[in-house]
Amino acid sequence: MPVVLGDADRDAERFRFTVADDVVAVENSAKLDIYLEGHPDEDLIVVGPDVSMAVAAEVAETYRLRRPFLGVVLLRRRIEVSTMTEALRAGVREVVMADDVEALVGACKRSMAVSEQLRNVDSGDATGGRGKIILVFSSKGGCGKTTVSTNLAAALAGQGDGSSVCLVDFDLETGDVAIALQMDPTRTISDALGMQGGLDERAMSSLVVPYKANMDCLLAPTKPSDAEFVSAALAGEILRVLSEMYDYVVIDSPPAFTDVVLKSFDMADSYILLTTLDMPALKNLKVTLDTLDNLGFPRTKWQVVLNRGGSRVGLSAGDIERTVGVPISVEIPSSVEVPLRLNEGVTVFETNPRHIVGKAFQELADKQRRSTTAKVPVPAKRSIFRRG
Ligand SMILES: Nc1ncnc2c1ncn2[C@@H]1O[C@H](COP(=O)(O)OP(=O)(O)OP(=O)(O)O)[C@@H](O)[C@H]1O
Ligand SMILES: [Mg+2]
Repeated sequence: MPVVLGDADRDAERFRFTVADDVVAVENSAKLDIYLEGHPDEDLIVVGPDVSMAVAAEVAETYRLRRPFLGVVLLRRRIEVSTMTEALRAGVREVVMADDVEALVGACKRSMAVSEQLRNVDSGDATGGRGKIILVFSSKGGCGKTTVSTNLAAALAGQGDGSSVCLVDFDLETGDVAIALQMDPTRTISDALGMQGGLDERAMSSLVVPYKANMDCLLAPTKPSDAEFVSAALAGEILRVLSEMYDYVVIDSPPAFTDVVLKSFDMADSYILLTTLDMPALKNLKVTLDTLDNLGFPRTKWQVVLNRGGSRVGLSAGDIERTVGVPISVEIPSSVEVPLRLNEGVTVFETNPRHIVGKAFQELADKQRRSTTAKVPVPAKRSIFRRG
């Protein structure tokens, strides 16, 4: 039974039969909390037109984290762009004019359908999109994931064929794409929390931040505590929608096999697995490859990339290839140009594509275009998301 936040007596009467056969109305958010505590299966909150925007946003924000399947539909007497933006950011599913009964009925139906889907379906499974998803990963921190993902995205967007790219920062707690590219994180993955199950291209367009021509970014939450609310299902849904919108989706990742990272491996077409010329990085690369084999992630998608190559540190590219038994796809040289450009908030590729590092990123980008997905026998895949 949907719950209406507003004028208890008047609204219970007014929305009965419109929203559902029966509704409950409560007059403030404290009473709403008490009601929802006793009704864990509640699907829908309709926030009345007289409730202030601040209270409406607070309700949506609170429940999008606590109960992602609970939808909020907001009624307003006037709808301005600022109202819409604030509401969507807070996690409101739809905003409807207070006197538009037909729109209200439609919004409530859609919200309840989304809730139903969320309860029953792991919504992010099949990609089905047109774009190529490329995951940049290393299980050791500091190997250059952010450097490689930002430069690769810039190179793919700058190849002159109009390809569109979205760089996704799935290093949810400590992501630094925004800093590396000096972008203002006005919108982040946190804003997608209330949209789980209902993400579509329109919603996604409001979440990405443009970086340059042909390149947008979906930035990591600015509040690290939001990271725990980003489920594998939401990550899958984000990737599915982005791959329908962009030619390339490049993912920056944390140095760990989180649920979101595993989901990304599940959905990516290509994995750029980074190492550097040091024993800890090499050991971690070996463990990563063994893990991917054990989980059945196809070897056809693997591309081992050596970052900071060329350093004379007692280990060579050949040592790495012999140890892990996989050829190095591209070698990115070590250069002071990388931290210099990082501190300027730009990529090496954009400022100096002819530099040896810029050229290496161009080569990496070319390989993403040319790489094929030729089928070779791989171990049977053990799904980590569809148990039973
Ligand atoms: N090819 C390179 N030459 C010189 N410096 C580099 C190179 N690649 C990365 N670096 C430097 O190494 C540091 C770590 O790089 P980066 O932040 O890209 O790693 P990361 O894997 O994303 O780290 P984290 O695991 O913390 O997210 C940065 O200071 C970066 O400037
Ligand atoms: Mg990083």
